[in-house]
Amino acid sequence: MTTIQRTPLKLAVIGVGARSYIAQNAVTSGAGAIVAVADPSEAALERARASYGDGVRLFRGHRELIASDQMVDAAFVTSPDHTHAEIAIDLLRAGIAVYLEKPLAIALADADAILQAAAESGTKLYVGHNMRHMEVVRIMRDIIRRGDIGEVKAVWCRHFVGNGGDYYFKDWHAERAKANGLLLQKGAHDIDIIHWLAGGYTTQVTGMGDLAVYGGIDDRRDNSDRTMPDWFSHDNWPPLSQTELNPVIDVEDISMITMRLDNGVLASYQQCHFTPDYWRNYTVIGTEGRLENFGDSEGGVVRVWNRRTDYEPRGDVEYRVHGDSGGHGDADALTVAEFVDFVRDGAATETSPIAARNAVATAVAATESLRDGARPRSVPPVAEHVARLL
Ligand SMILES: NC(=O)c1ccc[n+]([C@@H]2O[C@H](COP(=O)([O-])OP(=O)(O)OC[C@H]3O[C@@H](n4cnc5c(N)ncnc54)[C@H](O)[C@@H]3O)[C@@H](O)[C@H]2O)c1
Repeated sequence: MTTIQRTPLKLAVIGVGARSYIAQNAVTSGAGAIVAVADPSEAALERARASYGDGVRLFRGHRELIASDQMVDAAFVTSPDHTHAEIAIDLLRAGIAVYLEKPLAIALADADAILQAAAESGTKLYVGHNMRHMEVVRIMRDIIRRGDIGEVKAVWCRHFVGNGGDYYFKDWHAERAKANGLLLQKGAHDIDIIHWLAGGYTTQVTGMGDLAVYGGIDDRRDNSDRTMPDWFSHDNWPPLSQTELNPVIDVEDISMITMRLDNGVLASYQQCHFTPDYWRNYTVIGTEGRLENFGDSEGGVVRVWNRRTDYEPRGDVEYRVHGDSGGHGDADALTVAEFVDFVRDGAATETSPIAARNAVATAVAATESLRDGARPRSVPPVAEHVARLL
């Protein structure tokens, strides 16, 4: 058997912070080499030099990189959410394929502008909704696709963001100007999965939320000289004992939304950033049964009930979750592999820029609702002429 050797992709990383390690998956698999990074922070450029060696070219911003003579096939955009639109649009117009971290953008107009740039330029856009590759999600989707619980009528997701204080309240994530809100920043993942499991997109949404805990902590610090792993610790408990929070905190730490989808499915999503435990619990209810996950990584299970019973904790069928121990490392590797195949061969993807846009549209509308007395909001669909081109 002959093995076809392919030239490694020339890769850039835009934003060398906590998440930039995702790009390493392409290096480990042999698919690519990181040849350039762009980041305005000197500390980040030093991190890049330490991680990628002296051979990597350092730029203070993506525009310097685009204007340079450095050849790049694809870029991983792992910069803060409010920078996604400008960076992605410039890269797409420059013909550089983009792996854009979720959320696509922090405003609907920006999300639509990114899709428009991808459609007009014909450059490949991939949005890193890695949860679509988590095994717990694949198991749930397979159960639904097989018809084991009948026709889906409701999807409920409770999201216990136990690491919320460390992950989201010590840097830019805590600021509306940079993240809009955590329903978008964190919830974009689950709204996308709710849409995927339900087979539809939200048309109407209502939200309620509050800054119930972290707003009361006065101990603040500008942490822009370091990244999240520097301060992360399970010892930071209980939440009110947290210190060194971001100087500005104007996002919610608890929120609840209800959604009506275009196929009639009703859904809800609850997110809390001060629980002791960190995981997601989905239940999907169909016309012939119900599923629910317990744990969302290695050691977790998905149970299905499809007979009438009273309380029966074990369910009728149980599926074990493998992989993603302690996070979403396996999903990250699969997501990057899918991106590489998409860039090289135009292969089909499980993730979708239109779905990513619809997660943003729903989360933005939900956030508006929760900041406006829970008044319902309509969620506009993507423009047809753009959808046709993507
Ligand atoms: N899919 C996932 O599971 C997942 C997980 C974590 C983070 N993320 C996403 O990854 C992105 C980065 O998050 P993070 O936690 O690594 O943030 P971070 O703050 O740790 O790192 C961001 C980096 O971007 C740099 N930066 C700021 N402005 C820039 C600009 N204009 N151009 C280039 N670089 C710029 C910062 O200096 C910093 O080095 C976010 O969009 C986040 O939502 C996704």
